[in-house]
Amino acid sequence: MTTCRPRTFGAVFILAFALAGTALAAPKTYKLPDETATLKPGSEPGFEAAKNNCTACHSVDYINYQPSRKGQAFWDAEVQKMIKVYKAPIDEKDAKAIAEYLGQTY
Ligand code: HEC
Repeated sequence: MTTCRPRTFGAVFILAFALAGTALAAPKTYKLPDETATLKPGSEPGFEAAKNNCTACHSVDYINYQPSRKGQAFWDAEVQKMIKVYKAPIDEKDAKAIAEYLGQTY
């Protein structure tokens, strides 16, 4: 006569859980909050160029959180750093306009 040993029951139980787990691992969708930070309006064409080139990798908070009146040299260097260190694909003309806008506005 065969007896149903408790150990077999345990194994079946674990298997059932494992299968349920796979079913629950369906893809989930997330809704991120809308971007709310914006650049301060300023001189063109730099303002437009900054909107187009400085929001690809990070929030504009990175710009907004810099202490004010750091000066033109700081912003010139900052834009060059984004291009040279972080490889931002910004051409020389746009880079100049952006640095000008940032120097005047921030
Ligand atoms: C290719 C991606 C990329 C683009 C495009 C980019 N940045 Fe950045 N930026 C970074 C990275 C990476 C950091 C450093 C993040 C960290 O340290 O957490 C950074 C940091 C900063 C900071 C914080 C201070 C610092 O130096 O770390 C400022 C300000 C900034 N970026 C401004 C700009 C401006 C202005 C532009 C447009 C000209 C720009 N970024 C475009 C990648 C980018």
